Amino acid sequence: MKSSMHVFSNLAMSLDGKIAPVDQPMYSLGTKKDLDWLHTLRNQADIVVMGAGTVRAFQRPCLPKKRRDFFANALLTRTGENLDPKWPFFKARNLERFIFYTGKMKPKLQDAFLESSHLIPLDPKKSSAEQMIAVLQILNFQKILVEGGGELMWEFVKKNLIDDYYVTLTPKILGGVKAPSLVSGAGFPGGNELNLKLKEAKIVKDEVFLHYRRKKSSP
Ligand SMILES: NC(=O)c1ccc[n+]([C@@H]2O[C@H](COP(=O)([O-])OP(=O)(O)OC[C@H]3O[C@@H](n4cnc5c(N)ncnc54)[C@H](OP(=O)(O)O)[C@@H]3O)[C@@H](O)[C@H]2O)c1
Repeated sequence: MKSSMHVFSNLAMSLDGKIAPVDQPMYSLGTKKDLDWLHTLRNQADIVVMGAGTVRAFQRPCLPKKRRDFFANALLTRTGENLDPKWPFFKARNLERFIFYTGKMKPKLQDAFLESSHLIPLDPKKSSAEQMIAVLQILNFQKILVEGGGELMWEFVKKNLIDDYYVTLTPKILGGVKAPSLVSGAGFPGGNELNLKLKEAKIVKDEVFLHYRRKKSSP
């Protein structure tokens, strides 16, 4: 990764590490303060990257508060099934959209997505996150904000591609084996976990705004 590239993530989680309740995928965990923080970070980004599960939940693009001439969103999917090209995500103006996909997408669906988005096939045998970063780098994106969810986070985390992690700890417990968590996927075997460095912990009422940084020497 070029040194000018900065990959950072921002998610809010419950005390038990969940990012949404089991029955309500579209749910805001944080307070207004957290929402303001989200916009502060989005303002620092060129592009927001998310998993198809997050787009299915919100169906809307991730935009900075202040309109910009240029902003971009990217999503990762296998086949694009269960994503509807009619959702606001695919309709917002002044937004460049990239759909990275690793499987076989139906030609009809490809045609529908191509009306709003760039379609970029990835090699399913290689790291999707590494390939996404490589493409975005060629396209001159330098500040990549990963907004989740947990499955997408794993793609970046397992290759240690996130420089800065912003996590808002919210004073809630959600529970639920099936509720999505901050990072899901296969997980690291014990002893091989990713170790981070705490840069800042800011307490605002009942929320804690955490900032962890990547250790260059971690796997
Ligand atoms: N609290 C927060 O800050 C926050 C932030 C973001 C999201 N969320 C919540 O998190 C939930 C979604 O999280 P999630 O973990 O279920 O889903 P996710 O990470 O947003 O997306 C998962 C989807 O990404 C695609 N994907 C993942 N890995 C892939 C790979 N290697 N190759 C190709 N495609 C891949 C697949 O899409 P296909 O199924 O289309 O193939 C998969 O189903 C929602 O409830 C959302 O509201 C919360």
